[in-house]
Amino acid sequence: MTSILGISAFFHDSAAALVVDGDIVAAAQEERFTRKKHDAGFPANAIAYCLREGGVKAEEITYIAYYDKPLTKFDRLLETYLAYAPAGFKSFRLAMPLWLKHKLHLRRTLQQGFEAARQARLVFTDHHESHAASAFFPSPFEAAAILTIDGVGEWSTATFGVGEGNQIRLLQQLQFPHSLGLLYSAFTYYCGFKVNSGEYKLMGLAPYGQPRYQDLILKNLLDLKADGSFWMNMDYFNYGQGLTMTNDGFHDLFGGPPRSPEAMLEQRHMDLAASIQKVTEEIMLRMAAEIHRQTKMKNLVLAGGVALNCVANGRLLREGPFEDIWIQPAAGDAGGALGAACFVWHQLLNKPRRPEGHDAQKASLLGPQYSNDFIANFLAEMDAPHQRCRDEAELLPAVAQLLAEGKIVGWFHGRMEFGPRALGARSILGDARNRAMQATMNRKIKFRESFRPFAPCVLQERVSDYFAMRPDQESPYMLLVAPVLEQHRLPLSEAERKEMAEAPDLRQRLNIVRSALPAITHVDYSARLQTVDEKRHGRFYRLMKTFEALTGCPVIVNTSFNVRSEPIVCTPHEAYRCFLATDMDALVLEDFILRKEQMKRSVTDAEREKYLAQFELD
Ligand SMILES: [Fe+2]
Repeated sequence: MTSILGISAFFHDSAAALVVDGDIVAAAQEERFTRKKHDAGFPANAIAYCLREGGVKAEEITYIAYYDKPLTKFDRLLETYLAYAPAGFKSFRLAMPLWLKHKLHLRRTLQQGFEAARQARLVFTDHHESHAASAFFPSPFEAAAILTIDGVGEWSTATFGVGEGNQIRLLQQLQFPHSLGLLYSAFTYYCGFKVNSGEYKLMGLAPYGQPRYQDLILKNLLDLKADGSFWMNMDYFNYGQGLTMTNDGFHDLFGGPPRSPEAMLEQRHMDLAASIQKVTEEIMLRMAAEIHRQTKMKNLVLAGGVALNCVANGRLLREGPFEDIWIQPAAGDAGGALGAACFVWHQLLNKPRRPEGHDAQKASLLGPQYSNDFIANFLAEMDAPHQRCRDEAELLPAVAQLLAEGKIVGWFHGRMEFGPRALGARSILGDARNRAMQATMNRKIKFRESFRPFAPCVLQERVSDYFAMRPDQESPYMLLVAPVLEQHRLPLSEAERKEMAEAPDLRQRLNIVRSALPAITHVDYSARLQTVDEKRHGRFYRLMKTFEALTGCPVIVNTSFNVRSEPIVCTPHEAYRCFLATDMDALVLEDFILRKEQMKRSVTDAEREKYLAQFELD
């Protein structure tokens, strides 16, 4: 037996993954266990879970694969700081202690954290090689072009190459400081959102704006070539030497200092978001065209943080030269753990790969699960009133009925998702047709003021009835945005049209009912969708089928099971706590249904505040 433990740590989103004889046995992010969002520490809990899940003892691990080459990265940091010295000295000093403690002595750190695995061989894969491996090896394709794009690894910021059979080959790269990820993050920062987590918000803000600054960006900030490569003008950026992303030159160019996170969003910010989004799409489309030209491949696989830009992914699929696209669901650095492990198995040990028409990611349901017995004991301990269903025939119609009545349902079933999205294992569900659902979910469950709509789940066999997708096109990992079809859009009055374009409060714009599925339709009629099929999603698919039989509607709202800024719940206990602290109407824990009105007491405002205060706003 060959057990390969993949680790990603000390940057952002630490994670572990276990591959045993080529099979992806388990993978999880450390934040789910420590309850610290984007936890970057040594993933001791995630490792312990993966080994438990695989029934592998630490001393049985054959290889430990680390997703990055710390010494090369250290070279990059050192060279960058020297190039910018003395301006860069402060950020150098701030970065140094961590580097000295953990990153430089990684071999020792890994071995100390992990005494029992001392005989395991350590392999350090290149950062973008790990991303590339995570994109290609689990993909459904026998051969594919590979594109990785992120902020920065050691030196690379984007790479492309080919994967064939059990080998990948990277052909070309872009290097720091020229980085699409960092460019996008610079605008994220400038618009007042948190770098490395607010990029999603910027993408969600873009549909409110016009790409008025696109030309200004292309003229001043970067020299974009026909092949998608580009050279950034570092006169406008500060991430080489400083602790911020942008400098005064940047601020002058776009008409003022960065927005502070508490300040109102102005039309300018929306236009900036729309502009950088357009530029990103343009770059990715050009890159794809060039890669297609050079590799002649039919399919493309993607990974790296920028591959989470599902609006750009949707355009790549609809307008790009590739027939099909597969994106690693844990496209960010967490997925590097999985990539590194797969890399050792296929690339280094030369073990065969057999795609057989489907991906090897197992719906990305690679985390812990909890049995009905475990949950029964837990509920008894909590003295929580509940209904235990005998089987799905009793469970599913009851849950579908709750949803049809407009109730908000916490849905906890099977193994937890690996990657940033909830995909029907740790999800909060609602009726997408409900006009109030969008506002209610934000106010009563998430405790946030959001200008972004929720994401829909749609039955695979009906995806093309609602969205601009081919019937056979899949989006099982919620990584594609597609337009809602014309026939489901509603005519708007002149006043509504004006409000949608001009209302200063974006929630007011979002709340205008513009389609038959208002909770999931963005102001530009787009939706970030997940397709659900029985093979991958099992019980979750059958729940949606039951809902469809009851209502005729194959779409539901799926949002992650958490409050704002909280890592997605992992255990029944965390789900129960979140259920109590919010106005969620019902909680389904495997075969058990808990109803809010039957709970013996409700949470006080003080208790709720205390719960929310644990999670730092992002
Ligand atoms: Fe990365």
